[in-house]
Amino acid sequence: MYKIWLDTDPGFDDWLAMLLLSANLDVTWLGVSVVAGNAPLAATYENALRIKKHYHLDVPVYPGCDKPLAAKVETAQEILGASGMSTTGEALPGVDIAQLEAEQLARQQRQPMPHAVDALIEAIRANPGQVTLMCIAPLTNIAVALQRAPEIAPMIKEIILMGGSADQGNHTAAAEFNIYADPEAADIVFNAGIPLRMFGLNLCRQLLVTSAEVQQVRALGTLRAKWLAGYFEAYLRIRSADGSVPMPMYDPAVAIWLKRPELFSFEPARVDIELAGRLTRGMTVCEFRVPRRAQANAQVAMTVDGPRAMQCMMQELLGTLS
Ligand code: BDR
Ligand code: CA
Repeated sequence: MYKIWLDTDPGFDDWLAMLLLSANLDVTWLGVSVVAGNAPLAATYENALRIKKHYHLDVPVYPGCDKPLAAKVETAQEILGASGMSTTGEALPGVDIAQLEAEQLARQQRQPMPHAVDALIEAIRANPGQVTLMCIAPLTNIAVALQRAPEIAPMIKEIILMGGSADQGNHTAAAEFNIYADPEAADIVFNAGIPLRMFGLNLCRQLLVTSAEVQQVRALGTLRAKWLAGYFEAYLRIRSADGSVPMPMYDPAVAIWLKRPELFSFEPARVDIELAGRLTRGMTVCEFRVPRRAQANAQVAMTVDGPRAMQCMMQELLGTLS
């Protein structure tokens, strides 16, 4: 049984990861902190609430940091559109944010809405040694939490994150987007002494969706399936950095691992974040010669049985769309 706190910047692949988490009966979902990433915070927070409302996710959602620790704000809007999610069909309807916030606070009998970082710190203190942090966005919220309350580090069971790469980057030749968008935050998180699993681009590139799977979603014929299929279709047309389509499944990789860990293999490594490189800022430099050359600080995901993992993803996903 996992107690999961999700840190996210939806994002279509974040959306898929959220649906997979909601379908996993071994997961107690404590909360969601939202951060600027794929788009500015106002858009990622609204997206998270749209997903929560229309897909009936029973989890509190909190707005977090709107800018990186030291870097300038970097989004993926150039590729993903202004809202950070594009569709070939009907847009996921908007929501009344104030009303959803009021409902959440009434249920929790608290006032006012806490900042996501404070809510995250509270959840870790209330569940010492039990919380797995699932991070699928720039790591700003997590780094700020560790700066504000350093005593929570040994209370965190594990960090499982989509970010970085053991080979090439996507946002730049060397760097993956989540790490590039806030390298100083990633540096704090990777050096916090917390057990950490990194699901980087080298792993995610083994997870590819085909249009047959999009049709499978569409064929369900429900409203929720129709909305999702439109975004899925747009996502399949987005070229990855090497020019190939479809784009790999990034954030869902972590959620699939929670469900089917036996499909994955890992290697221990010392992962350091390049902060100064002129061409390599945000790169995750992986030293696999541990413990000879360095002490490991991460388990780096290396292989996944792609077809079986995709099959698992589709099966779980379809169950959330009725
Ligand atoms: C990561 O960046 C974002 O665009 C995706 O949501 C994913 O978390 C992939 O590099
Ligand atoms: Ca993301």
